[in-house]
Amino acid sequence: MSDLQNTQDDVKAENRIFPPPAEFAASAAISGMDAYHALCKEAEQDYEGFWGRLAKENLTWHKPFESVLNESNVPFYRWFEDGLLNASYNCLDVNLQNGNAEKVALIFEADDGTVTKVTYRELHAKVCQFANGLKSLGIVKGDRVVIYMPMSVEGVVAMQACARIGATHSVVFGGFSAKSLQERIVDVGAVAVITADEQVRGGKHLPLKSIVDEAIAMGDCEKVRNVVIYRRTGGQIGFTAGRDLWMHELVANQAAECEPEWVDAEHPLFILYTSGSTGKPKGVQHSTGGYLLWAKLTMKWTFDIKPDDVFWCTADIGWVTGHSYIAYGPLAMGATEIVFEGVPTYPNAGRFWSMIEKHKATIFYTAPTAIRSLIKASDADPAVHPAKYDISSLRLLGSVGEPINPEAWMWYHRNVGQERCPIVDTFWQTETGGHMMTPLPGATPLVPGSCTLPLPGIMAAIVDETGNDLPNGQGGILVVKRPWPSMIRTIWGDPERFKKSYFPEEFGGKLYLAGDGAIRNKDTAYFTITGRIDDVLNVSGHRMGTMEIESALVANPLVAEAAVVGKPDDTTGEAICAFVVLKGARPTGDEAKKIATELRNWVAKEIGPIAKPKEIRFGDNLPKTRSGKIMRRLLRVLAKGEAITQDVSTLENPAILEQLKQAQ
Ligand code: WTA
Repeated sequence: MSDLQNTQDDVKAENRIFPPPAEFAASAAISGMDAYHALCKEAEQDYEGFWGRLAKENLTWHKPFESVLNESNVPFYRWFEDGLLNASYNCLDVNLQNGNAEKVALIFEADDGTVTKVTYRELHAKVCQFANGLKSLGIVKGDRVVIYMPMSVEGVVAMQACARIGATHSVVFGGFSAKSLQERIVDVGAVAVITADEQVRGGKHLPLKSIVDEAIAMGDCEKVRNVVIYRRTGGQIGFTAGRDLWMHELVANQAAECEPEWVDAEHPLFILYTSGSTGKPKGVQHSTGGYLLWAKLTMKWTFDIKPDDVFWCTADIGWVTGHSYIAYGPLAMGATEIVFEGVPTYPNAGRFWSMIEKHKATIFYTAPTAIRSLIKASDADPAVHPAKYDISSLRLLGSVGEPINPEAWMWYHRNVGQERCPIVDTFWQTETGGHMMTPLPGATPLVPGSCTLPLPGIMAAIVDETGNDLPNGQGGILVVKRPWPSMIRTIWGDPERFKKSYFPEEFGGKLYLAGDGAIRNKDTAYFTITGRIDDVLNVSGHRMGTMEIESALVANPLVAEAAVVGKPDDTTGEAICAFVVLKGARPTGDEAKKIATELRNWVAKEIGPIAKPKEIRFGDNLPKTRSGKIMRRLLRVLAKGEAITQDVSTLENPAILEQLKQAQ
């Protein structure tokens, strides 16, 4: 853990409070704070009874479980372990039996505005056919399949089809580079990759299949027997006979029924890579039963989903939000949801509002970065302001992925929520599987910038560096004191790292360490997240490790040393600022600009465009202590453009600070 600096910062007093509208509360799944407290009390008094009840009521089990929670091998908790079920069955078949068969499951809107609607019956058939296709390739329960696809009906079908046959999927965001993709294919030991010829975003065609080819050609991917290609654009691609297949040909003669593979509740549903404190991304492994329970239940509790809602989560299936709140949660609830291929700014920055109008979306869930960029866009061009669209269908708004600043919250509330839609600011992580702390829209009075209180059954707390509880009003480390069903099960292939990262011995080995700092309000006990306390950045809601970017930079032949820190940014929340020492002389002027551009492109190639440093600064050296440790705290101050007021007497080379003030 680097430091707790930012958790000690004063959180600005926020006095505005917005109680839930009476009308909303009247019909909400959890109506009023008494109902919330009653659920919390139930969990406290009989933890296993509480979760057991919910798992029985919310999931369809092929074989019911007897054991709720097995804690015999802490922190490798096992939930509902002797129960058998199938995630795809719970998302699809269940809806064919309960009257939802002809209901629209997916409203897919392509980049160019073309709309395709898929009912539950149709989705079930597509998933079964593809599942049968995957089986015909010899893919069996326990195999890992990498999915590198655009936002599409087929992307959801691919995930559900893997779940149906018990194959564990690992979705890789379509913006990642060939190298990042290859690392994930190798680490997870994938037997197949599902991709598309190209993806279309903002009117542009971007390659996917050729990146898969490049990744496999990098080596160590011998386990990959097949690459299945969804034809999205018909663009030119290379085709390796015997390995590559078209998705439409694979499903052509497959039956539209596929008996689901019944798996243990603990069977890994998916592995999703995310960034941590080291250079190597970690494969977060999730279970089937516990994960699905929470994905479904949070749809009910947090989003208060009703049968006639039109739900829209704008995340990509490459991130955890797209797993829980596109591929699984909404379908498990039998909801109608929008899946969007494009970007919020194409053909103009009114795209989200025009889609809400067109599809009569009722629940809208997006990231603060998107909100902030759309605030800017509508300031610049009033024609794309939400007021120009009929978005009166909305009844609930959500925010996810990063802290939402009170100003953006207020704009969202006024202009999108029309001062009547509650906003659920949902705090959670790839590792938590679903929401952890969030207001309940029919119960919790809202405070801008606060994720308010933990959901019932989530024992969140704030502790000091020795694991002792801190009083409200004092910033510290966010922990969860009891295991919960949708928690990470392990880091794929590295159980030791799992233990060390999340359940460190210094905290007694039983507290889940979120990696975030937090503070609770003295009066309301509401939580506010103060930011990561490890070397993880959050840029536009995307998680990235500073070490990952540093390793990419030093892999460039020109670079001797690099240190990466985050710097506050009005739009993206945080921006990446890299301090670089070259092997040759420190460049200046045009030369520095040229090398900075070269290094940015290099990082895009090594990791993906999302990891490109916004700023690169060159020095003859980095600020180091006499023992050679880079003083990142000073770099953070420099990146912010602030004067250094800290003690620099332990610094080996104070003169270097002057050089590093200059951005390229
Ligand atoms: C941050 C995304 C403040 C936090 C679902 C966390 C948030 C990291 C919020 C996880 C929020 C997410 N308020 N911070 N509502 N939601 N974060 O794994 O730092 O991509 O640890 O999961 O995002 O990012 P991840």
